[in-house]
Amino acid sequence: MNVYDSERMAELLAPDYDAISSPEDADLIILNTCHIREKASEKVYSALGKLRPLKEVAERDGRRVIIGVAGCVAQAQGEEISRRARMVDFVVGPQSYHRLPELLKKAESGARVVADDLTAADKFSALGGIVAKRTPRVSAFLTVQEGCDKFCSFCVVPYTRGAEFSRSVEAIVAEAMTLAVNGVREITLLGQNVNAWHGTGPDGHEWGLGRLLYRLAEIDGIVRLRYTTSHPRDMNDELIDAHGDLAVLMPYLHLPVQSGSDRVLKAMNRRHGAADYLKLIDRIRQARPDIALSGDFIVGFPGETDEDFEDTIKLVENVGYASAFSFKYSPRPGTPAAEREQIAEPVKVERLARLQSLLGEQQAAFNRSRLGMKMEVLFEKEGRKAGQIVGRSPWLQPVQVMAPVALIGAIEPITVDGLGSNSLFGSLPEVAAPTAKAMI
Ligand code: 5AD
Ligand code: SF4
Repeated sequence: MNVYDSERMAELLAPDYDAISSPEDADLIILNTCHIREKASEKVYSALGKLRPLKEVAERDGRRVIIGVAGCVAQAQGEEISRRARMVDFVVGPQSYHRLPELLKKAESGARVVADDLTAADKFSALGGIVAKRTPRVSAFLTVQEGCDKFCSFCVVPYTRGAEFSRSVEAIVAEAMTLAVNGVREITLLGQNVNAWHGTGPDGHEWGLGRLLYRLAEIDGIVRLRYTTSHPRDMNDELIDAHGDLAVLMPYLHLPVQSGSDRVLKAMNRRHGAADYLKLIDRIRQARPDIALSGDFIVGFPGETDEDFEDTIKLVENVGYASAFSFKYSPRPGTPAAEREQIAEPVKVERLARLQSLLGEQQAAFNRSRLGMKMEVLFEKEGRKAGQIVGRSPWLQPVQVMAPVALIGAIEPITVDGLGSNSLFGSLPEVAAPTAKAMI
């Protein structure tokens, strides 16, 4: 989501600022920050420390460099950043990006500003119209939903991104069409709680994410759809059916469970148990048997016993993940779990290592199971080696193929003939040389 937000900011500023990739020559530097885990704010101060000499050197040369901090650290600690880091000209939370031009104008005139609105509605109505200027690409993100009302006891998102907000069907379809016209072939719908998305359709009925996917699948040029990140509670029948019905909806689902222990899940305020999750996975697999699953896990949550952790291992063994993210619990100031008695660091380290080794084995086994398989790859960009291009399998694995760059943007059938550490190697079908001759 931060990648998507950074692109929107670049677009908004495009009339005045050319986007560059290194800070040395920049007149404006914006740090877009994440607050979900660990020393995020320390990272911000250390990044700011590295930028300070740049600002000072530029100022000695009579050039003004404006520095801004954006994202969820800005939202959570805006006033503190502004007070502690005098070099920061403005601080802008995730719901205030539409105010960037105004903030910049103030900053240029020497004022130091903090913008930390907490509702996404104004931002989307102000930013909705600027997608046409996007740089051409094959695969793009599209934010459909932001914020979260679930309040899992470990999570800072409801406090930094605010209450759940769904963009309108109209705005989403218009943005998807603009992307398609600009050559985008794959869209990944984004939201902190993407499957909680809902809106009123043109038919006057309330739509959920499933219905929206059926609509987006009709757009010419869009050949692949994905969505992330989902909550198990919001996987309804229509969304599961969409996985069975829509060939363009890729057979890969990121569905975090966090823990396999009912006790821990309750303490996390997840509002589902391990058995509910497993039942859900069964239903999804019935609808789309080749679906691959991905998840998020937290180990060392306050109160997690060895037995609770074993339940997580059992759940992972039971599901079989194609990929997953796992983290040590990290207390976030202001969240309920941060106040509870904490698990010792060495225990967290050991549990994480065990879980990650199991998840790593599962990922390797999943990748191995693709060896020799024929699959369609959407090519996205040139590879590192000359003559190589890289795309994604339906299961989101990077696939490297020796093929002409002209195939970037195309979906081609390939055969997997090798495995990298995190990617697949494939080759295009051989085209037999013609045997007959013609003169025209
Ligand atoms: N500590 C560790 N991991 C966390 N996540 C969210 N908050 C925390 C936290 N306080 C993880 C969850 C979530 C993912 C995006 O980050 O697993 O699904
Ligand atoms: Fe955070 Fe996801 Fe829980 Fe919302 S559903 S509080 S974003 S972990």
